[in-house]
Amino acid sequence: MSKIKAAITAVGAYVPDYVLTNEMLESMVETNDEWITSRTGIKERRILKDPDKGTSYLGIRAAQDLIEKKGLDPAEIDLVLLASATPDLPVASTSAYVATQIGAINAFSFDIQAACSGFLYGMSTASAFIESGRYKKILLIGADKMSSVIDYTDRTTCIIFGDGGGAVLFEPNEEGLGLQDEYLRSDAIGRNFLKIEAGGSLKPPTEETVANREHFVTQDGKTVFKFAVSNMADVGERIMKRNDLESSDVDFLVAHQANKRIIDATAKRMNLEDDKVLMNIQRYGNTTSATLPLLLSDYEKRFKKGDNIIFAAFGGGFTWGSIYLKWAYNS
Ligand code: UT7
Repeated sequence: MSKIKAAITAVGAYVPDYVLTNEMLESMVETNDEWITSRTGIKERRILKDPDKGTSYLGIRAAQDLIEKKGLDPAEIDLVLLASATPDLPVASTSAYVATQIGAINAFSFDIQAACSGFLYGMSTASAFIESGRYKKILLIGADKMSSVIDYTDRTTCIIFGDGGGAVLFEPNEEGLGLQDEYLRSDAIGRNFLKIEAGGSLKPPTEETVANREHFVTQDGKTVFKFAVSNMADVGERIMKRNDLESSDVDFLVAHQANKRIIDATAKRMNLEDDKVLMNIQRYGNTTSATLPLLLSDYEKRFKKGDNIIFAAFGGGFTWGSIYLKWAYNS
């Protein structure tokens, strides 16, 4: 292990103004607030309504929030990583556009696609570049315009997802703070349970695929739920054991916000009290790559230097994992 650790030194976020509430969904599909709240914990989600704006807009706004708060000169950024499952365009890298728009004129950039685990994997990628000593300032963004791939006539998916973006800055730390350990996994057993059927190289879009609504997200919710509960709890428990962490040593759980019941099950296995389990799913729903940085942004003021934070995520693929990080600053 290198002596240099990769620490998060700033956080930024952006969610669109438009609020889609459970009550509004009641008039769109056969559902009700009680069902959505009790099954998922979600009350409302944000939607990027402007048809001329894609995921890059969410990422740019989140990055600009961070840059402003930190007083960072974007020309100092070495690398911009964008985790997203909904790129602006299928081929042109969204991160390149974001980097240029925020003035990261000396950076290179690339996109990371690992569905709901994209940001978690991005934390690993950013940290490896920092620990190696190769780069000093890495901006990691998680952003998704999920409304662009959601079928608002399908009650099994449209109640879950929302749009948003979040960003963190990784920098070297020689006090031992920052990323301590990670356990990341994937298994293609999940490929058929959560996906967009058409529009990729396997099944390029045709009039027929569009007519069949195959360009929208579909999931076998029950199966995904089962895998998510057991795998997220497993990795959370494993990373604690491997680092000799008792539940009293863990200050916060930052878990992917897909379903409150999944988060609760993970926290229970890790034996964590409720106030350590960060939650904003009620306001944003599942924003895919943005859930973890949106939590960091919402709860930033509660974090203290040296706090032990466990991250956990689970998503399409399947992809999943957990990261143990020591928080590096007081805000
Ligand atoms: O972020 C990536 C990972 N994704 C996830 O982790 C999502 C995991 N899955 C879930 O969160 C849950 O499975 C859902 C929230 C998607 C669904 O909850 P569930 O408790 O698994 O419900 P279900 O699919 O078993 O459906 C139960 C019933 C069904 O009716 P019947 O067959 O019992 O008559 C559904 O048709 O609820 C019905 N239903 C709804 N009712 C009202 C499904 N969606 C709705 C709805 N409103 N929106």
